Amino acid sequence: MSRIAYVNGRFTRHAQASVHIEDRGYQFADGVYEVWAVFDGRLADSAGHFERLARSLGELRISIPLSQAALGVILRETIRRNHVRNGMVYLQVTRGVAPRDHPFPAGAIRPSLVVTAKSVDMVKSQARAADGVKVITVPETRWARCDIKTIGLLPNVLAKQAAREAGAAEAWFVDDLGLVTEGASSNAWIVDAKGVLRTRDTQANILRGVTRKSVLALAAKLGLTFEERAFTVDEAKQAREAFITGAGSLVLPVTRIDATVLGDGAPGPVAKRLRDVYIQQARQDAA
Ligand code: PDD
Repeated sequence: MSRIAYVNGRFTRHAQASVHIEDRGYQFADGVYEVWAVFDGRLADSAGHFERLARSLGELRISIPLSQAALGVILRETIRRNHVRNGMVYLQVTRGVAPRDHPFPAGAIRPSLVVTAKSVDMVKSQARAADGVKVITVPETRWARCDIKTIGLLPNVLAKQAAREAGAAEAWFVDDLGLVTEGASSNAWIVDAKGVLRTRDTQANILRGVTRKSVLALAAKLGLTFEERAFTVDEAKQAREAFITGAGSLVLPVTRIDATVLGDGAPGPVAKRLRDVYIQQARQDAA
């Protein structure tokens, strides 16, 4: 079955889909993106991702002449044309095509819009969660605006590659104070030695994860003790549990940090419960 992509107003075969060589996304990473998890062909945490998309675009002063409703139609049509039941849908907006010059182009140019979708095997995803994954820690090397979901992801790419080479699923960035900021494509969480669920506050230089926000709401609903407070690598290594959240990982238990095995090496009860409840709720609320 051939994949289909949406590119600037058209659905086209994925293998042939292309943008111009002077697209500012290609030359300057001058653009933003969003990823929604897809359950039963519908968008998980739909509103939260649209809100963040609008914010990211606003911060870069890119104005896209399409309403949220129109974008929703394109996302759902891309999902439908690719026969995705469970998986992910990716949307990217760049400032558009213009002769290479660092400042914004003088005249109004049309932003480039690309949407792709892919299926995820939920059986494999659940098996991975049942085993738990390893993360490595790497120095924080990113810019100071990680709250914007830009396509400028080179430090994240390098961190992920280091993770892969170490047999790990994710890399956690660690700042100069020894505090974990977040993962290369996820937010970082622990259940600390005292049993408190913790994830870093969004005053820090991190992405305001949409899944993070939903999981915090679920933690409150379940009556868990939680804090939005940074933790050190040492605290994480001594934690009862750890996990990551994101549109790709959902809620994914972490069982090893660098060479340290957490607890008995199996996913913890809080992470497992939050994964189950998150998936159930996200599936139910998907739109
Ligand atoms: N990544 N932090 C970073 C750096 C991320 O790239 C992501 C998401 C998250 C989690 O955010 P959310 O819960 O809103 O997905 C945190 C996406 C999935 C990606 O780059 O593919």
